[in-house]
Amino acid sequence: MSYIVFNGELTKRDTISIDIEDRGYQFGDGIYEVVRVYNGRLFTWEEHVERLYASAEKIRMTVPYAKEEMKAVMEKLIEKNQLTDGTIYLQLTRGIAPRNHAFPGSDVQAVLVAYTRVSDRPVALMEKGADALVVEDKRWLHCDIKSLNLLGNVLAHQEALDAGCYEAILHRDGVVTEGSHTNISIVMNGTVYTHPANNLILNGISRKVMLKACDSTATSYKEEAFTVEQLLKADEAFITSTTLEITPIRRINNQPIGIEGEYKVIKKLQEAFTADIEAECGPLH
Ligand SMILES: Cc1ncc(COP(=O)(O)O)c(C=O)c1O
Repeated sequence: MSYIVFNGELTKRDTISIDIEDRGYQFGDGIYEVVRVYNGRLFTWEEHVERLYASAEKIRMTVPYAKEEMKAVMEKLIEKNQLTDGTIYLQLTRGIAPRNHAFPGSDVQAVLVAYTRVSDRPVALMEKGADALVVEDKRWLHCDIKSLNLLGNVLAHQEALDAGCYEAILHRDGVVTEGSHTNISIVMNGTVYTHPANNLILNGISRKVMLKACDSTATSYKEEAFTVEQLLKADEAFITSTTLEITPIRRINNQPIGIEGEYKVIKKLQEAFTADIEAECGPLH
């Protein structure tokens, strides 16, 4: 895992240092993606790169690489690091310039960094489920941008960890938005509910794969917000993310959700999710 991508080039990790005037470092002025790799192949790359460009546009940042160029260098990175199962973290910052809130001049280029990490599918968690804590969503109003500014998410996540939970489920005035690093959905009377993809949540790529799984399994779904009260009374609840795929929620605020381990709808959706991965990346072991 000794190679990284730095400004479009493959470079040895220990030869790179980050400039203290990188705007990502000083302002969190940048965007990122985490992309899953199964069997050495990128999963849902097109969706991730589209979201990256959309995030860049929303923060008025120019990506100095074409989408195909970006894919080619990520594939080279996977090959060079011999990554079979894991993730690529990639981020773009608005570049290096003397510290000033104003955007730097057009001569300053965005800085691209990407590296790989080995990780297996969290199969035990996906089977048993994770515990969660409901926490107030105190973030800004552009949660659709996959921005480097994650302090609100970090603080909420830590609050959940401190309470012995795995994830924080965020709410604004009693309406559930998403998790600190996941999207959340519930099942009520056989229908899946998840917050609409607006400015209050990140439109997760795994959320999209999950909705596709609803279609392929003839499970009805509504992109409709639900309340904390409905969440606690749900038949099933689950989180989705690039690394967690579809992971059931076992307890919320120490209260069991549905029947532990049963996860009828969730299991059906997990199977369809796996089939989608296998269709793109080959058989999973
Ligand atoms: C706040 C937030 N919501 C949702 C997600 C899930 O997005 P994805 O499925 O694209 O990984 C993430 C992932 O990092 C996240 O940070």
